[in-house]
Amino acid sequence: MTRPFPWVAPSILSADFARLGEEVAAVGEADLLHVDVMDGHFVPNLTVGPGVVGALHRVTPLPLDVHLMISEPDRYLEEFAAAGAAFLTVHVEACPHLHRTLEHIRALGVKAGVALNPATPLETIRYVWEAADLVLVMTVNPGFGGQRLVEAVLPKIRRARRLSGRLRQPPLIEVDGGVTAANASRLVEAGAQILVAGSAVFGAADRRAALAALRAGGSRPGGSRT
Ligand code: DX5
Ligand code: ZN
Repeated sequence: MTRPFPWVAPSILSADFARLGEEVAAVGEADLLHVDVMDGHFVPNLTVGPGVVGALHRVTPLPLDVHLMISEPDRYLEEFAAAGAAFLTVHVEACPHLHRTLEHIRALGVKAGVALNPATPLETIRYVWEAADLVLVMTVNPGFGGQRLVEAVLPKIRRARRLSGRLRQPPLIEVDGGVTAANASRLVEAGAQILVAGSAVFGAADRRAALAALRAGGSRPGGSRT
């Protein structure tokens, strides 16, 4: 993965699940494939589990960016790792032993991510920065695609990027929710390195053009620093 930032990670939540193989093939030029796992408990929606992650892994060369919106994620880490996840991201709100969970993910040979809901302060990950390979700053309240970006989160992205930049091995800063070609430049300017986009990609008739528009939006002057 040598492409310059921002990377774009289409979220299959907005894809046609009856034609998932074709949908994924149509976004072959993305950088990662984002898979939203929801349990109807941590978030008010249900989606897919390790079986679908494994099936995707067999048909796409894209690294799988698995976003666990589930309570007690520790119970399923092995299964998702075995299914082929490249990144496993857990929510700080769901992890009483966050440092242990992140170490567990790394021990499984997977990149460890930590996600924060819009209302969750950055302070909650203060002591785990070194254990994280990715910090996912949620830009909507998780559970559904097609929501509007929560503007109040922008300063948190900025601060997360500043803090990550101080580390020897800076975790990647990812944003997820309400990302469009129109706001991509502001998100990248704030410090986002990975843009997750569901409806902006799979809601478009031309998925390649949608990916290009997100990249172009995020690469405007002032928005391309890495
Ligand atoms: C929301 C999910 C997102 C979702 C984003 O809970 O975590 O990944 O698919 O969808 P859009 O880009 O449509 O807001
Ligand atoms: Zn997500």
